[in-house]
Amino acid sequence: MRFGFSTAGESHGPAEVTLVHGVPAGLGLIADDVNGDLARRQKGYGRGGRQKIEKDEVEFLGGVRHGYTLGSPVAMLVRNRDYANWEDRMSPDPPQGSNSVKKVTLPRPGHADLAGMQKYAFDDLRNVLERSSARETTARVAAGGVARKLLAEFGIRISSAVYVIGAASFDKERAALLASKADESEVRCPDEEATERMKAEIDAARHARDALGGEFVVVAEGCPPGLGSYVDWRDKLDAKLAHALMSINAIKGVEVGMGFGVASRRSSEVQDEIVLEDGRLSRTSNRLGGLEGGMTNGEPVVVAAAMKPISTIARALRTVDLSTYEPARAFRERADSCAVPAAAVVGEAMVAIVLAEAFLEKFGHDNMTDIRAAHAAYTNRLRDEVIRRSAAGKDARGRA
Ligand SMILES: Cc1cc2nc3c(=O)[nH]c(=O)nc-3n(C[C@H](O)[C@H](O)[C@H](O)COP(=O)(O)O)c2cc1C
Repeated sequence: MRFGFSTAGESHGPAEVTLVHGVPAGLGLIADDVNGDLARRQKGYGRGGRQKIEKDEVEFLGGVRHGYTLGSPVAMLVRNRDYANWEDRMSPDPPQGSNSVKKVTLPRPGHADLAGMQKYAFDDLRNVLERSSARETTARVAAGGVARKLLAEFGIRISSAVYVIGAASFDKERAALLASKADESEVRCPDEEATERMKAEIDAARHARDALGGEFVVVAEGCPPGLGSYVDWRDKLDAKLAHALMSINAIKGVEVGMGFGVASRRSSEVQDEIVLEDGRLSRTSNRLGGLEGGMTNGEPVVVAAAMKPISTIARALRTVDLSTYEPARAFRERADSCAVPAAAVVGEAMVAIVLAEAFLEKFGHDNMTDIRAAHAAYTNRLRDEVIRRSAAGKDARGRA
């Protein structure tokens, strides 16, 4: 079965649940492999009060035995600690006695609230907002932890960096190059001076009872060439990465490599020339973000995403009360004033998941022993071809 995942769970329900299928047998996997990323998702300057309540930790419910995967679906649970405060409103059981729960009827602009109520015929928008909340991205980060562990076995490392928050920005290319240092910054920007400017932006927006978005870049180093395919549109890796990143709450745009910048440049300023360097085919630049023809080309994969500002703001926006159809102000639930650093960690998880799927598609699904052998055979073939053919080329030139 193809590598992939599903999630279940409501923001203030008992837990976030992740089911990852297509995980090969024999992959070393312990809770700490996932918990580190769960903790990174909870960080970031500008987060709201929820992160102080939660301390996300995974429990394996299936698919792992004595620290190794079994080839069966990996089932993971992350408990919502806040559920203790919400049990009356979020219990799966019918309400007890005459205790009816107050309905929420003030849809928030920028959220799934209004169309969700219309689509699913609800009269209480809690039924929509609980699932449409970005709390669900916790479950994605858990799936990403499994994907990342698999990729790390083959030297593939994924990192992210924030380079725009509101009007404060840092150079995107430099952010991508320095992404492995981003954990040191409260806003995931690998530059101290830019970090301070971004924090000041967040403070100013919060002071104005408003919120901010921004941009982040995700970098995957160590990918072999040929993940994904040009043969069928469904297998094009750039398209899959765009889908995966766009599926994250509040992401409104995705760029591959230099992204929209390609449109206004000449071809010679966009393509990455091919050279032989140290007995290896490589590129003089990586403007196209390591992706050509829907496949990895051996250079780092570089993708970026733009996040819109948080929709729920203290200066509540206009709406209509759906119980009376009178003008009103939007419902407010505790909210972040900036979640771009957290979204970047979710972006890493989504990129890891897409790459893991493509990796296993190329090298097999069943068990790590066979996958290691297939990966070694492929990388050896590519290396040997360079040695053999360049020696043959030298011979031919010598004879001429
Ligand atoms: C990590 C993360 C945290 C978020 N936190 C909030 C929040 O606290 N308040 C809010 O209104 N939106 C928040 N959002 C954005 C909303 O979830 C998102 O705008 C909403 O679900 C509507 O989806 P759309 O913007 O993709 O159309 C967050 C998004 C992410 C990725």
